[in-house]
Amino acid sequence: MAEIFTKIIGTGSYLPEKILTNDDLSKMVDTSDEWIFPRTGIKERHIAREDELTSDLATKAALNALEMANIKPEEIDLIIVATTTPDLTFPSTACRVQANLKCSSAVAFDVQAVCSGFVYALSVADKMIKSSQYKKAIVIGAETLSKIVDWTDRTTCVLFGDGAGAVVLEGVEEKTGILSSIIKSDPTYYDILKTTGGVSLSQNAGFISMEGKEVFKLAVSKMPEVSKDAVEKAGITLHDIDCFIPHQANVRIIDAALKYLDIPEEKTIKTLQNQGNTSAGSIPIALDFAVRNGMLKKSQYALMSAMGGGFTWGAIVFKF
Ligand code: UT7
Repeated sequence: MAEIFTKIIGTGSYLPEKILTNDDLSKMVDTSDEWIFPRTGIKERHIAREDELTSDLATKAALNALEMANIKPEEIDLIIVATTTPDLTFPSTACRVQANLKCSSAVAFDVQAVCSGFVYALSVADKMIKSSQYKKAIVIGAETLSKIVDWTDRTTCVLFGDGAGAVVLEGVEEKTGILSSIIKSDPTYYDILKTTGGVSLSQNAGFISMEGKEVFKLAVSKMPEVSKDAVEKAGITLHDIDCFIPHQANVRIIDAALKYLDIPEEKTIKTLQNQGNTSAGSIPIALDFAVRNGMLKKSQYALMSAMGGGFTWGAIVFKF
């Protein structure tokens, strides 16, 4: 039987309408644009309405991706949603998205790996498509992080935003699409980025808490390292990469990664200025931005690289 490859045939994204600027934040906590922008690269972020759920954002991103792919929802046989902010504790957000999209013949489930969630979910989907049991899939990274941000904590509330991004995948017989994926986790760093509560611990979701400097140090070593490994595994070189799509947490982390990898600035996607860190949403939103703005074209090579709580990290190389 011919080897199957997972091709990305559509991308989509959605950001809630409401925008919260650094100046708005300076009226809520003791902070300023002068502190936030140089340290993070963030100017503003999008915030979901109270009645706007992660599944709503995810559904809109998926519909955009389906439109680009020219695929009908009923053709989809797999839906994976990466999220840390599910609508409910259960059922999964993916099942709600399945209902919204009317993908009646799909199987749907969530993946939880915080900011690495999309890379994890895409890696899982790739394996399932390669098995030949699934032919067309939607993988979504979606978050309403604003609902677990402590809006009195200036050390975290300035960093995060809400949004969703999605890809439509298809199994094909030509060697294209996902060429390598690596996902990793190390619980030594379990406590440096976590919520203050959870269903089993406190019967509520808790709020984001973070040791920023520790997370920063890990990010600047793990993201470049795994990126290099994924490029090697794909059988190409870093100079072949046409588009670098890193997790959008902090522009200084991105700049450190591209310097280490020797990837030119103009090949690197940066969307965090207007979005903040949207966790599992960040890479697929940046990917959709790259595709729709002509920064990633058909047959070009792209590298995605992520890191997040757990500690988790990973990278994927694909030919678009
Ligand atoms: O997806 C993974 C998610 N997380 C990340 O990627 C975050 C990685 N870490 C970072 O990006 C950086 O560590 C931060 C941007 C979070 C913080 O930057 P930093 O240069 O490490 O600042 P710091 O935490 O060392 O704080 C420096 C000072 C402190 O004041 P003192 O103790 O020196 O008087 C903080 O209290 O800045 C203060 N500070 C603020 N001041 C104004 C912390 N947050 C703020 C704020 N506005 N929002």
